[in-house]
This record gives sequence, structure tokens and C-alpha cells, in this order.
Amino acid sequence: MIEQLYRKTILTVAGNKAVEGVMRSRGWGLAQRFVAGHQADDIIQAVKDLQKDGIGGLLDLLGEFVDSPDTANAFAEQILSLVDQAAAAGVQPYITVKLSGLGQGLTVDGEDLGLINARRIISRAKPHGGFLALDMEDHPRVDVTLAQFRTLSQEFGHDFVGTVLQSYLHRTAADLAALADLKPNLRIVKGAYLEPESVAMQDKADIDASYRRLVYANLKAGNYTNVATHDGGIIDDVKMFVLAHGIPREQFEFQLLYGVRRDLQKQLASEGYRVRAYIPYGHDWYPYFSRRIAERPSNALFVLRGMFGG
Ligand code: FDA
Repeated sequence: MIEQLYRKTILTVAGNKAVEGVMRSRGWGLAQRFVAGHQADDIIQAVKDLQKDGIGGLLDLLGEFVDSPDTANAFAEQILSLVDQAAAAGVQPYITVKLSGLGQGLTVDGEDLGLINARRIISRAKPHGGFLALDMEDHPRVDVTLAQFRTLSQEFGHDFVGTVLQSYLHRTAADLAALADLKPNLRIVKGAYLEPESVAMQDKADIDASYRRLVYANLKAGNYTNVATHDGGIIDDVKMFVLAHGIPREQFEFQLLYGVRRDLQKQLASEGYRVRAYIPYGHDWYPYFSRRIAERPSNALFVLRGMFGG
């Protein structure tokens, strides 16, 4: 409950226009702990640096608000260009994207633009051993994102497209069961948005228990599972679970956010686990940065110290 209150306060303050103005003009230096840079070259360099420690990358172009097909298509073009640049640099084009940024909800020739653009990205990434992960946004988008994941998964197969399930939503166990026929590639997260009690658990212990159940169920079903958390207790339990159930290391990976628990990322890689860091880049870094601060009080202190000294 205290965690929820903290998160709510930070996200409300961060949404204040005056705070946003100050942060956007003065906060970039601090945001660089979590964001690789503004350009595609910056993220490619970040992946190359991580690769030295045996860590892969999830490539995320930041950009959260799209109001027209033109903006969505321009965003998709930037991602297509990232795929080309990554492939040319010898970096796997493992892209992660919010379908809203690709035009989800906008219709072109009777079809959803988010789906059309997702298809273009997968087709471009596939010959280079790439992958497209569909991030999960707030709860009103879950139905449409899962439906579009189903379409893409049927078209391309689970080796080229995956999505995300959030353990805090009451609906997620049912969603997992409904996806079983796809043998889905799933990233399991706790959930980063401020959601009401009617749709999401509010208690950390419940969210954590749900998280473990989802990961274990997807692993036991033989599906590729991206265990996306910084929670050391859960990571240790997953290590024990895979040992106890004879689940091979090729069937799962740990995923963590760029700039968060770098020590743990390196340690897991040195222990021989597959590890990938979620690396954002681009100009629209503020909403992403706000969510990271909302996840942890010490991140807010880091920002305050950075801005006001001390
Ligand atoms: P929890 O919040 O319980 O934290 C456990 C411990 O991890 C903390 O005690 C702290 O030590 C450390 N920690 C967590 N967050 C930290 C931070 N920001 N800075 C420093 N330390 C931190 N969400 C979503 O809704 N849709 C999505 O598509 C994704 N995608 C995604 C991809 C990847 C690779 C990750 C790691 C996370 C996401 N998320 C997400 C975010 C996710 O829902 C969640 O908000 C964060 O991962 C924080 O939750 P934890 O599981 O880390 O546990």
C-alpha cells in the first residue's frame, strides 16, 4: 500500500506541466542513467558495450503520443531504420515497441495501423535474426494488444514476435491460459502503470505471488519466457524452479532495465544465464524516466540530489 501511494504521488507530480517543464530542460543529464542517448548510434554503442559482459539488448525507441497516421508512420520509419543500422553494425535487431506509438487505434484501409506497422518491422527484422516484442501499456489497451499479438504470432510464429503480461492485473492468469495454443514467447512483468483496484492488485505480496505463478506456468508449458524483473528473491526462485523441473537455459532469459541493477545483470550473465537489458533511446525520454523514478524512492532522491546538489 505504501509503495502504491509513493508511486501515485510521483506519477501525479511528474504529470504536472510545471514539473515536466523543469525536468525536460534540466533533467537530461540524470535521465542518461536510464536512457542510452538520442540517436540510433547511441543505442547501438550501448548494446556493444553490454555485449562485452555477455548481455544482449532490447532496443526501444522512445515516443509515447501519436495523434495521426503520419506521426505513427514516421515513428515506424525510424524503427525500420534502426533495424537496418543495427543489422549493419552486427547487433541483433531485437526491437521492443508500444503499439500505440505505431498507430494502434488508427485505421487505414480498414485495418489497424499499429498492426500494419508491426508487420513491417517484423518483416524487416526477420532476415537478420531479429524479433519484435509488443510492450504492454495501461489496461484499456490489453485486449487489443493481445488480439494483435495473436494475429502476428499466427502470421510469423513465436520465434519472431512476443508480448508482455503484467502480474498486477486480475485478468492475467486467464489471458495466459487463452494464449496457450500459440506457444507464446512472453515477457512477464509486474506492471508499471497506475491502475485502479477494480482491475489490478494493489498489494506487493499479491503481485509478487501472481508473478511467480505466471512465470512457472509459462515455463512448465514449454514456452520461451522472459523473466523481466530486478527482484532478487524472484530471480533466485526462478533459478531453483528451472533446476527442479529440468527446464533448459535456452528456454528463458532474464531481462532488466538499462541502468538498473547493473551488478545483477553482470552476475547473471557470468553465471551462464541469458540476460538482456531493455535499452531506451530517443528524444521523448520524460514519461519513461518518470516511471523509473516512481518504481523506487531512492531514484527520486537521486534526481533531487542531482538537481539541487548535495
Ligand atoms: P519491484 O518493483 O518489486 O522491485 C524489486 C527490486 O528491484 C527493488 O527493491 C529494487 O531493488 C529493484 N528495482 C526495481 N525497479 C527499480 C528501478 N527503477 N531503479 C532501481 N532499482 C529498481 N511494465 C509494463 O507495464 N509493461 C511493459 O511492457 C514492461 N516492460 C518491461 C521490460 C523489462 C525488461 C523490465 C525489467 C520491466 C518492464 N516493465 C514493464 C516494468 C515492470 O512492470 C516494473 O515496473 C519494473 O520492472 C519494476 O518492478 P520489479 O519487477 O523490478 O520489482
